[in-house]
Amino acid sequence: MSKFLVEGGVKLQGKVNIGGFKNAALAIVPAALLSRDVCIIENVPMIEDIHVLSQILETLGAEISQVDETTMKIDATNVKEINVTTELSRKIRGSYYLLGVGLGLFNHVNMPLPGGCNIGKRPIDLHIKGFEVLGGEVSIEGERISVDADNLTGNKIYLDFASVGATINIMLAAVYAEGKTVIENAAKEPHIVDTANFLSAMGADIKGAGTDIIRINGVEKLTGCTYSVIPDQIEAGTYMVAAAATKGDILIDGIIPKHLEPITAKLTEMGMIIEEYGDSLRVTYKDELKAVNIKTLPYPGFPTDLQQPFAVLLATIAGECTVEETIYEDRMKYVEELKKMGAGIDIVGRIAYIHGKDKLKGTPVIARDLRAGAAMIVAGLVAEGITEIREIAHIDRGYESIEKKFMNLGARIRRVD
Ligand code: EPZ
Repeated sequence: MSKFLVEGGVKLQGKVNIGGFKNAALAIVPAALLSRDVCIIENVPMIEDIHVLSQILETLGAEISQVDETTMKIDATNVKEINVTTELSRKIRGSYYLLGVGLGLFNHVNMPLPGGCNIGKRPIDLHIKGFEVLGGEVSIEGERISVDADNLTGNKIYLDFASVGATINIMLAAVYAEGKTVIENAAKEPHIVDTANFLSAMGADIKGAGTDIIRINGVEKLTGCTYSVIPDQIEAGTYMVAAAATKGDILIDGIIPKHLEPITAKLTEMGMIIEEYGDSLRVTYKDELKAVNIKTLPYPGFPTDLQQPFAVLLATIAGECTVEETIYEDRMKYVEELKKMGAGIDIVGRIAYIHGKDKLKGTPVIARDLRAGAAMIVAGLVAEGITEIREIAHIDRGYESIEKKFMNLGARIRRVD
């Protein structure tokens, strides 16, 4: 099992290039099958989750080839049904988009229930509600789910919670459905818009993505296209937080500043200097940062995926503050690891009460999930001494070449097997 060794005390300096957004690519790559044609997808992050997803698609008859480092060619012409037999789909959450694709393409899909980070129950009841409203019949037997429909008819779906996955999955199922589908209380994250833009580039008729009402008119045919995935605002935010924690001065390149507004606002409130240059941000530590409170919310609120790295930053700043996690019921496991490093944090329900202090001590810790792993790296960068981070496979699922990117910023981090 590989691990990271991180030596604290270096102020990050230099430039980091941000890759394509994991959570957008996990929707767009399977959605390419809807074209029944050939799609070229650019700016795809080369991360484990995408690798697993590609393997799953190949078992379904898709031909996938790497055009270059970050460009994939997906030929969907030979995909005849979506019956996922490989257990690979249990490894990632993003496999659930094959439900919407299978239903949309063939009125049938059968696959294992999705996996993903252990940060809560993570049901898919809202996905299922959407499929049923469109005319799908859902059955779950053991660890497998199947959805069948005589034909899909557009309808109005109200989401009890603005679920990202359910919003995208219903869009995928509805692109060929007869008539109009309206998704109310839809999620508004940038990757909802990115997925809708990709579907529109293939010829789908979708309006309103990015607002809480999305309208889809079913079409007869989609065709292949070339599309570039948006930059990963969660990867970018992770480096912004690391710059603040290490009192550094870095340039984050290849981003869409608007997608980073929630993080930029919080870091500015704390006293960081953040300057926008078109598709890059300069993030500079000036002097003593102020502790602030965080409450995670659906976009455009503060993103839950940066709750953990941000909590590490707050734990190293003198002052009392709270971090409230409203999206997942169990996304605070990393606090146990942080306390091994000396952090002063008490958890009551979904709120972490942080008694910030200026020093953490390096010690062996575990990456409890993907973003918790990123949080452990941030902690190691500011702790005294060496921090050993185990179970880093979680981190490789969602961050491309993370140790190389941090090393390019001056960090003393290395991967040992
Ligand atoms: C996506 O998960 C992301 N994953 C998550 O990123 C991200 O944290 C989340 O959106 C919120 O932004 C992928 O895109 C692969 P949700 P998803 O549906 O679709 C509950 C990361 O670190 N819920 O908005 O699962 C659910 O249990 C990962 O990159 C239901 O109750 O997010 C959770 O508490 C972690 N029923 C909340 O809603 C449903 O049918 C948010 O879920 C669906 C969701």
